Amino acid sequence: MAEKTVAVVGLGYVGLPLACLCAKRGHDVIGLEKDSKKIALVNSGKSPIKDSVLEEQLPSLEGKIKATSDAKELKQADVILVCVPTPAIQNKPDLSFVESACKELATVLQKNQLVVIESTVYPGTVETIVKPLLEKSGLKAGKDFFLGHCPERIDPGNRRFTIEKIPRVLACLSKEGTEKAKAFYQSIIGAPIVVLSSVKSAEAVKVVENTFRDVNIAFVNELAKSFDKMGIDLLEVIKGASTKPFGYIPFYPGPGVGGHCIPQDPYYLIERARQSGFKHRFLSLAREINKSMPLYVVSLVESELEELGIKIAGAKIAALGVSYKPDVDDPRESPALKVIAVLKEKGTKLSIFDPLLPSHSNVSSLEEAVEGADCILLLTHHSSLLKSLSPSYIKKTGAKLVVDTRNSLDKEGIIKEGISYKGIGR
Ligand SMILES: NC(=O)c1ccc[n+]([C@@H]2O[C@H](COP(=O)([O-])OP(=O)(O)OC[C@H]3O[C@@H](n4cnc5c(N)ncnc54)[C@H](O)[C@@H]3O)[C@@H](O)[C@H]2O)c1
Repeated sequence: MAEKTVAVVGLGYVGLPLACLCAKRGHDVIGLEKDSKKIALVNSGKSPIKDSVLEEQLPSLEGKIKATSDAKELKQADVILVCVPTPAIQNKPDLSFVESACKELATVLQKNQLVVIESTVYPGTVETIVKPLLEKSGLKAGKDFFLGHCPERIDPGNRRFTIEKIPRVLACLSKEGTEKAKAFYQSIIGAPIVVLSSVKSAEAVKVVENTFRDVNIAFVNELAKSFDKMGIDLLEVIKGASTKPFGYIPFYPGPGVGGHCIPQDPYYLIERARQSGFKHRFLSLAREINKSMPLYVVSLVESELEELGIKIAGAKIAALGVSYKPDVDDPRESPALKVIAVLKEKGTKLSIFDPLLPSHSNVSSLEEAVEGADCILLLTHHSSLLKSLSPSYIKKTGAKLVVDTRNSLDKEGIIKEGISYKGIGR
């Protein structure tokens, strides 16, 4: 495909890697962004996100991505990719960012432009919400401009499946749009591009993928609670079950689920189905179970401390890791935030340390965090934390208890050092 001018709307965890990829593949890139700090950083070749891949790529792409807050710049774009947030507020989809981005796009939309919504949306959004907003431009979708959906599947921090290696599904409202969109994605992505017969199906794919993760994680989180009562090591059971070469996929228990996608996207499906008269009981239950995990973590800390004769009120706890998953700097919806809030309510003396989130830490190093701690509570298994938290290191801190919500520390080694250990489900 000949070089295109590609506009990316929203330079966040999704939009920025996508903008970099388009620039790397030789397209001219315009990034439309609301946040002036992000605009300044991107234009000077710096990453506003702590991500080793982006930090590596952006300096060499300086000048190749033009970040701006001026929507008029998008008039020259051939392709417009919309990557704005789609949160859930009080368990309901909030499409206000998509709506306002589309209202702005309608003021600059040009004939023959291809607009692809990459944000996660519920089935029907593109046709019933995005299309009418864009048609306020006076142009008709499928005739004057092309409109479709290609849900983003990026997994921030994943170095194995980087954005260009992840297959995509897509669909547009017209055949010509679909062909244009497929050719465009083939120009940037080396993995298969799978065309679906309707935009509604493409929208459903993304919410199904993330809901699949939510319900499976809820399943193991519930097992963790029951196996704790029965005294069975769930991790060993999962290891055993994983030897079956078919019909089983391992998922692992933890402190709950976080991030912008998995705790939110099921609500998009639940609400859309409700509007059509169907009540998703199973999906709602999964949400409830995963949301209960931070309180479960606190109850484990409390009961384990009690066994050691330490009252939770006044106990010194080193809470390590705040982001929702390892090696990313994203605290959105992180279960660690809830655990920390409840521990504070219980009167613990908390030192909080996340090497990637100084803004969410109240100490500036691991050493400072663990000093004098009764309990080391691992909430996010950043690789730098795992490297340091060996049994001998923990022994030296004098901590009496380790609560490992990610089941990623050396349980046997820690116990051998005479320290109490509690994981989730083990
Ligand atoms: N974060 C992920 O891992 C991930 C993965 C796959 C899909 N998604 C989906 O991708 C979408 C974006 O998520 P994200 O994590 O990148 O969000 P984000 O908050 O990191 O980034 C969104 C960016 O859009 C900007 N923005 C908001 N409204 C705008 C507007 N009208 N015009 C220009 N810029 C605007 C914000 O300032 C922000 O920088 C969501 O729908 C999300 O569900 C996210």
